Amino acid sequence: MNIMNVDYSTKIPNNVNLSEDRQVLKALEGWHPGYMDWWGDMGPEGFQQSLVYLRTAYSVDPRGWAKFDYVKMPDYRWGILLAPQEENRVIPFGEHYGEPAWQEVPGEHRAMLRRLIVIQGDTEPASVEQQRHLGKTAPSLYDLRNLFQVNVEEGRHLWAMVYLLQKYFGRDGREEADELLRRRSGDADSPRMLGAFNEATPDWLSFFMFTYFTDRDGKMQLHSLAQSGFDPLSRTCRFMLTEEAHHMFVGETGISRVVQRTCEAMKAAGVTDPKDVAKVRALGVIDLPTIQKKLNLHYTLSLDLFGSEVSTNAANAFNAGIKGRYHETQIKDDHRLQNDTYPVLKLVNGEIKRVNEPALTALNMRLRDDYTQDCVKGLLRWNKIISLAGYDFKLTLPNVAFHRQIGEFRDVHATPDGVLIDDATWNKRKSEWLPSTDDGDFISSLMTPVTEIGAFAPWISPPKVGIDNKPGDFEYVKIET
Ligand SMILES: [Fe+2]
Ligand SMILES: [Fe+2]
Repeated sequence: MNIMNVDYSTKIPNNVNLSEDRQVLKALEGWHPGYMDWWGDMGPEGFQQSLVYLRTAYSVDPRGWAKFDYVKMPDYRWGILLAPQEENRVIPFGEHYGEPAWQEVPGEHRAMLRRLIVIQGDTEPASVEQQRHLGKTAPSLYDLRNLFQVNVEEGRHLWAMVYLLQKYFGRDGREEADELLRRRSGDADSPRMLGAFNEATPDWLSFFMFTYFTDRDGKMQLHSLAQSGFDPLSRTCRFMLTEEAHHMFVGETGISRVVQRTCEAMKAAGVTDPKDVAKVRALGVIDLPTIQKKLNLHYTLSLDLFGSEVSTNAANAFNAGIKGRYHETQIKDDHRLQNDTYPVLKLVNGEIKRVNEPALTALNMRLRDDYTQDCVKGLLRWNKIISLAGYDFKLTLPNVAFHRQIGEFRDVHATPDGVLIDDATWNKRKSEWLPSTDDGDFISSLMTPVTEIGAFAPWISPPKVGIDNKPGDFEYVKIET
């Protein structure tokens, strides 16, 4: 078969020749009903019978890979899509540097590889669970459609990881695949594996922050795994990144549109001080200081996803050729890092300092630095909107010591500027920096659904362009009545 095009004749669309891989096809077909039950229980609440204008991947050719059409979400064709195999690909880093990439699981690294696939797999359904209530407060049909697009694709990413587990890990792979459907975001007894994926996504500003900051952690992890010496994992992640870009677009433009609307409303009402929260809120838009607080929360929760700055697990995964660095093949060094160092932010005698650590154990820190640089781009765009509107206010990324639960700074408190403070000061002031109950209540009060075609809630601007170049009055979701 042609790897570029996806075979839709089997129950599970794929470009991995499942029709001739009977055992794996059977295992996946066996898993399918449980997935559909999970989607019914934990997928988007409501709208399951609505026609949604969704894209579905029909090819892995980067020049044209998706088709748009009206689909009911339960009828979405969740498929297994791998990027084409690169001829003569070699392992680009670690102890096996330069050896041919593995087409089968290397026995000595089996447990580590399975664990990384399970952790990645666990985040995919988790975000669907976190976002399941948002449909009923969507600010427009356009936004509703984007939410559902993200949700079905996270579902597909779960399929992608489950395929790897079932094809390459035998019985324990099948058990892990079942566990992925059993854990639930925020559940007291069987939560999802990572902290940020057990947090609530209570409103649409949270959703945009999540897709901007937390999906971007996903992007960094996928990039690192796309470098993997285990070729099927590399190819899987490379195609997932194609879809992931849209998720972060939804976040970036979502926040842009909120900022835009707030600035317009302030200008129209003659508000000169953007920090005059009460005055701005009275206009029915979200004030910039509250947007900053939401940003502080989601950015720091996402930083925690990178794990400890200094980590032997990260070193082992790199040495083993399982998980590389962001843009590994473009980095000019020996790709083994045996004698290199990397500066890590640490707490030294009560001060935040950069300390050189062996580069191998500092790989989480390095990836997190790459992530922070990637995050900055959005802030530049948002701040440009604010300054063009004539306001002296800048959204900023908080210091890495602020509000951390994992790593070097988990046991201290710091201000967003990185000044260390004691517990009492933290408790007194934290509502200046993180969303309070009042802030949450105010945002919730704005979350009334808008379902008229082409209309938008008054706290958010319309997008500059439609999805698939559709006009402003396009009916992105045909809601069943
Ligand atoms: Fe994903
Ligand atoms: Fe995503």
